[in-house]
Amino acid sequence: MTLWESRLGSTAEEVMAFTVSLPFDRRLATDDLTGSRAHVRGLRRAGVLDDGEASILLAALDRVEEELASGTFAFRAEDEDIHTAVERRVTEIAADVGAKLHTGRSRNDQVATDLRLFTRRELILVARHVLGLQEVLSHRAAEAGDAYLPGYTHLQRAQPVLLSHHLLAHAWALARDVDRLMHSVVRLDVSPLGAGALAGSSLALDPDAVAAELGFAGRFENSLDAVSDRDFVAEALFDLALLGVHLSRIGEELVLWSSEEFAFVTIDDAYATGSSMLPQKKNPDVAELARGKAGRLIGHLAGMLATLKGLPLAYNRDLQEDKEPLFDAVDTTAATVRMLTELITVVQFDIDAMRRAASDPALQATDVAEHLVANGVPFREAHGIVGAVVARTVAAGRTLADVGLGEWRAASDRFDPSVLELFDPDAALRRRDVPGGPGPRSVTRQLTRARALIARTRRTAAGG
Ligand code: ARG
Repeated sequence: MTLWESRLGSTAEEVMAFTVSLPFDRRLATDDLTGSRAHVRGLRRAGVLDDGEASILLAALDRVEEELASGTFAFRAEDEDIHTAVERRVTEIAADVGAKLHTGRSRNDQVATDLRLFTRRELILVARHVLGLQEVLSHRAAEAGDAYLPGYTHLQRAQPVLLSHHLLAHAWALARDVDRLMHSVVRLDVSPLGAGALAGSSLALDPDAVAAELGFAGRFENSLDAVSDRDFVAEALFDLALLGVHLSRIGEELVLWSSEEFAFVTIDDAYATGSSMLPQKKNPDVAELARGKAGRLIGHLAGMLATLKGLPLAYNRDLQEDKEPLFDAVDTTAATVRMLTELITVVQFDIDAMRRAASDPALQATDVAEHLVANGVPFREAHGIVGAVVARTVAAGRTLADVGLGEWRAASDRFDPSVLELFDPDAALRRRDVPGGPGPRSVTRQLTRARALIARTRRTAAGG
């Protein structure tokens, strides 16, 4: 029996199969029960139910919860979605009283409520996983001490940076992800319950009280908006897609760094996979999938925005398409964050390979130009002078460290003998002890700040 049988007669089987959402929205069962309990109490306060009826309904909801938890809940072919299934079972258990459960409520405000409860909880869980990854990155950064590697632009060696600086760069991007997730939680913290199908109810319901009971910061301001708003889903999908992009970039670096061409890291055997044909292979599939998963996360966001863009107010069935991408995005990001956290916990850094890669004195070319700047040469001119020396040494197969004082002074009389001391990478790093810079003292301060932020965030809503 469908909910609308008295109006429409029977629905074609194929239509039911096409329109059902139960296979995926049963994941909202707990949230649906939470919403229903709050609704029952609201109906009691409004005088729609007496005390006895409210207790009967709450007991029936408890029983449904037990049946769902123990796997004894018998779903039926006509259970279109989780809301219908729960109401149908409550009515079986509590007969006439059960039939009062849906008073003053529509599945439209109900599903919006369920999904907000779900999204609020899951985004906080994802944020906690991300904090775990930040912690591992900052731990590995602290361990890395004064190890350095080339920093790259355009994937060409540019200037030396501390390994800790590089690792923390990823941790800061993740800190913004956590911040974004928590701000999305603040914005979605609005109860739609009481908006009804689209225009509330003539019964004396109190959406403020129901919102407070569900732990929402407030209630909807406009019933039409309340049932048609899925901004919180789109926003969650954006947050997760951008998080996915950050994870993808970490994955890409692990793929590059574990190649024999770079050989900056060795991935632990437990986090690598082999080849079905090539016996020697050790493949960084976890890192590759961390990179690959971003594609579907971006797809979920684009798909959701496309679903929303043409919808007239208020509820339209198209909105049912919000759940699968959201569920998948939450699961995908949580799993990816956890895998990368484990992989990075045990990845081995080859500090010597990194140092060798950063040993080219050309990485100090900018410092040579700045040496001229300190001696009064305008930077653009200094850049040109040093560039010409670099071109000469490259053509002759020499390095900048092979250039003698005479040759420097022939290029510009503003060079003084200290130019010859510029080519030690450790010293070059110490010269970069500027705020936010890659020098050892700056990075020590940065690490302290990163750790303080992580600890602070752990203590707030994302903690636990
Ligand atoms: N399964 C539906 C969804 O996910 C629930 C709301 C159905 N409302 C309706 N009027 N058909 O959106």
